[in-house]
Order: sequence, then structure tokens, then C-alpha cells
Amino acid sequence: MILVTGGAGFIGSHTCVELLNSGYEVVVVDNLCNSHKTSLERVEKITGKKLSFEQADVRDAVALDGIFSKYHIDCVIHFAGLKAVGESVQKPLEYFDNNLNSSLVLCDVMKKHNVHNLVFSSSATVYSGDNKMPLKEDSKTGDCTNPYGWTKYMSEQIFKALCVADPQMSVVLLRYFNPIGAHESGLIGEDPRGIPNNLLPYVSQTAVGIREKVTVFGDDYPTPDGTGVRDYIHVVDLARAHICAVEYAEKHKGCDVFNIGTGRGTSVLEIIKAFSEASSINVPYQIGPRRPGDLPVCYADCSKAKNVLGFETKYDIKRMCADSWRWQKNNPKGYAK
Ligand code: NAD
Ligand code: WQD
Repeated sequence: MILVTGGAGFIGSHTCVELLNSGYEVVVVDNLCNSHKTSLERVEKITGKKLSFEQADVRDAVALDGIFSKYHIDCVIHFAGLKAVGESVQKPLEYFDNNLNSSLVLCDVMKKHNVHNLVFSSSATVYSGDNKMPLKEDSKTGDCTNPYGWTKYMSEQIFKALCVADPQMSVVLLRYFNPIGAHESGLIGEDPRGIPNNLLPYVSQTAVGIREKVTVFGDDYPTPDGTGVRDYIHVVDLARAHICAVEYAEKHKGCDVFNIGTGRGTSVLEIIKAFSEASSINVPYQIGPRRPGDLPVCYADCSKAKNVLGFETKYDIKRMCADSWRWQKNNPKGYAK
């Protein structure tokens, strides 16, 4: 059985679909601080299979201990965490507490229950800003520009040190690039609280009429059209990467790290154009100033994930936008009806 922390969230819910479809049993632990239980009901609807749900905070060692006693856990996928970059600057202690203590408590309880396999949600944000593109796993890390980034960097250090200390441990660190899209059913997708920070939810909420227009953060970058370039990956592809990582964790010991992206960069204006085509709605936008801390270009070298995990993406930007739009159109207010 796979324990999925944060499984009710955006990436977690899509991963639960892939796990259930691959024949795994799943128990989700989530405190629902940034998600709705409805997502898990939809996961069951999509797959026609049941999962177990325990509403608990991963930092609650007593609750977690009880969950590890109740279920036979073979591997943990640890998504639970806070992820809003701007908010982390305003509330650093909340971010360090949630994201670091959840990792520490989880590792402690895993050790007590002899569970040795873990897949962790890391991020491209751990890379330093002065690297050459594409980013490789051994590109420079650190120099994070916000507390959220530091929590991912520090969590990586915790897992690496743990694997040195305990040779039975197997940890797979997945550094996600920019996950977007939604399940093709239109039943599950990204449901950010308040005004979205990320580009795709902002574009899709503009298309559906919740926001007036998208502000493009700078058009004077040294890129082909002057706007920022990122490596967007379909969330269903990203979810599939977790199946590869679980399989790899079973046969591998120690700590290993993989970029999970497509290896291709897409600009902000290309995203707005692709989304406008997918939705048949001309998404309005205006050019604004650069957002502090943004890199001009960020994309992955994905050869290690391909060669070692056997993971390759299937979906292009057109499909990512079409699936995001289906989710947004069918659920204009997300899970809250
Ligand atoms: P999300 O907010 O949709 O999902 C996170 C889930 O964790 C939520 O359901 C939330 O309720 C839960 N949670 C948070 N703190 C918890 C705690 N202490 N105990 C129990 N549950 C808790 O976010 P997501 O986009 O699905 O991201 C999942 C993971 O991937 C996060 O760790 C995030 O930092 C990482 N990540 C996300 C992105 C991205 O762009 N979405 C990129 C790189 C890495
Ligand atoms: C993408 C591009 C913006 C919004 C962030 C986190 C990173 C990771 C993924 C978790 C950039 C531009 C955006 C808007 C815009 N999360 N943009 N108008 O910044 O690559 O990464 O999310 O780990 O840690 O930093 O993603 O979606 O915010 O921005 O023009 O309203 O869109 O400048 O070029 P980013 P994003």
C-alpha cells in the first residue's frame, strides 16, 4: 500500500488516479488546509476504485503513528506542504514549520514502522539562479530567493543525510518544473485559493471570466518574444513519473534526484495564445513590469529521468491547455460549488 501525504491536492489527486489505475492500494493523509475532500471522491469516480482517507496533519506524530499501525505501508509519496512563494515571504515561520516538520515527523514514524521507501516533491526552485540552461541534476543548488524554496532545499538535505545514516533508506527526490493541465475527465484539476500566483490558473480564470485580464510580467527579457520561458509539464505526465519513482525506490537504496519536466521551454505569450486557441476565447492581457525574483528562462534536462526511471512525457502544450480549460469550464469555482 502507498501512503500519499497531501493526496487531496492538485498533484496528489492526479497521482492517486495513476496509482489506483496501476493496481496500487492507496491511503491519503491530508489536513485539507489547501484542498477539498471532493477531489478524492472524484478520484474514485474516475478510477472506479476505492482509496482510504485519513484527515490528519503530517506533523502530528501520534496521528501518523496510528495510521502507520492501521495500514501496511510499503512506500510513501510526500506531497504535503505549503507552496505559495509570495506567502512564504510573508509567513516564513509557517512555511519552515509546515514543510520541514512534516518531513521530520514523517521520517521518524517511517523509521519506527520499518518503512524505507519515500518519494518526495521537490522543485526546480532549489536551483541557483546563475545556472546555464538546461538544468541538470548536478547544476548548482541553493541561493534560494524565498523561504518556500529554502524548505525544499533543506528537505532535500534532510533526506540525503538520512540515507547516509540509514543504508536501508531509499529516497527519490523529484524536482518538478511547472505542472499545469488537468485530468482529461475534467473532474479533477488545480483549485487555488484566492488570486492565483501561477500563470496557468490566472489565464484559465481570466478565460472563464473570474479575472479581467492577465498581466504579463515583463516583455523585455532576452527571450524570442521578450516574455519569460518555463518548462510546463502536464500534471498527468507528472503523476506518471511518481509510479516510475515508486518502482525505482523499491529496487534502489540511498538518495537519488531527478528533474521532472519536458525539456522544452514555452513563453508566457505562447501560453496565452495556446490557451486562447484551446478555449476559443481570446484571453485578454496587458504587459506589466517584471516580477521580482523571476528568471528569464528555466527548463530541464530530462535525460536522467528517461535513462534511469524510464520516464518520458506524452502531452504537449496544446493538450495541457485543452485539459486545463475543460476542468475550469466544468468547475468555474473549483471544488466549492
Ligand atoms: P496542493 O496545495 O494542491 O497540495 C498539497 C496538499 O498538502 C494539500 O492538499 C494540503 O491540504 C496538504 N497539506 C499541506 N500541509 C499539510 C500538512 N502539514 N499535513 C497534511 N496535509 C498537508 O499543492 P500541489 O501543487 O499539489 O503540490 C504538491 C507538492 O508538490 C508540494 O509539496 C509542492 O511544494 C510541490 N511542488 C509543487 C509545484 C507546483 O507548481 N504545483 C512545483 C514544484 C513542487
Ligand atoms: C510562470 C511564468 C512569470 C503569472 C513557480 C514557483 C516554483 C514552482 C512553480 C513550486 C513566469 C509569468 C506568471 C502571471 C505572468 N512551484 N507570469 N503573469 O515562477 O516559474 O514558478 O511555480 O515549487 O517554485 O516559483 O511559475 O506560474 O508563477 O510563472 O506573466 O500572472 O509566467 O513571470 O515567467 P514560476 P509561475
